[in-house]
Amino acid sequence: MKIAPSILSADFGRLAEDVKKVSEAGADYIHVDVMDGHFVPNMTMGPMIVEAVKKATDVPLDIHFMVENIPFFIDMYKHLKPEFISFHIEEEKHINRVIQKIRNEGIRPAVVLNPATPVCLLEYVVADVDMVLLMSVNPGFGGQKFIPSVIDKIKELRDLASKKNPNLLIEVDGGVNDKNAKLLKEAGADILVAGSYIFKSSDYKKAIESLRV
Ligand code: DX5
Ligand code: ZN
Repeated sequence: MKIAPSILSADFGRLAEDVKKVSEAGADYIHVDVMDGHFVPNMTMGPMIVEAVKKATDVPLDIHFMVENIPFFIDMYKHLKPEFISFHIEEEKHINRVIQKIRNEGIRPAVVLNPATPVCLLEYVVADVDMVLLMSVNPGFGGQKFIPSVIDKIKELRDLASKKNPNLLIEVDGGVNDKNAKLLKEAGADILVAGSYIFKSSDYKKAIESLRV
């Protein structure tokens, strides 16, 4: 199980320090939540902040866009060469075009589903992405309560992927902690994003290890 700490819950007054600490604690990816105040009712990190994050670590970045006008944001962040860029399918009419735009930059494309968005919408997309991110909270804020129906969605997606894209990575984001990590793994998740659970703990390494069930 790979762990992607979400720096949304880091101390922004000491962001570089927190990024270094969580990298040394064994993070597999640094999960970066980009919000525009339109797609979600919150705003977070512009490209200059993410540049500072990248300078502080060698751990690959996993950028999660919660934005409108996705192609514009891809152009603004592509020079940071993240491992993944994920975008919400609820927002995009031309999903395949945007996937290709990300891949053309040498970045691995991923699509995101909100908790109420059904897996069946991925039928003709799942073969073209490297990863699907399933939200287990409504996006916008850290520290929200885990929505358990994601467990069935992971199983359904794993089933679809076994037919159309056996190498697909499944990532889960929102309310992840040591109580639900095992269930998520058993359902078929590959990468767990965790923000408040890791950054509110006193020992990042211990918190990360407790999610590798
Ligand atoms: C929520 C973000 C998450 C958030 C997770 O919109 O996408 O990445 O930081 O935070 P926790 O783990 O506290 O739910
Ligand atoms: Zn996220």
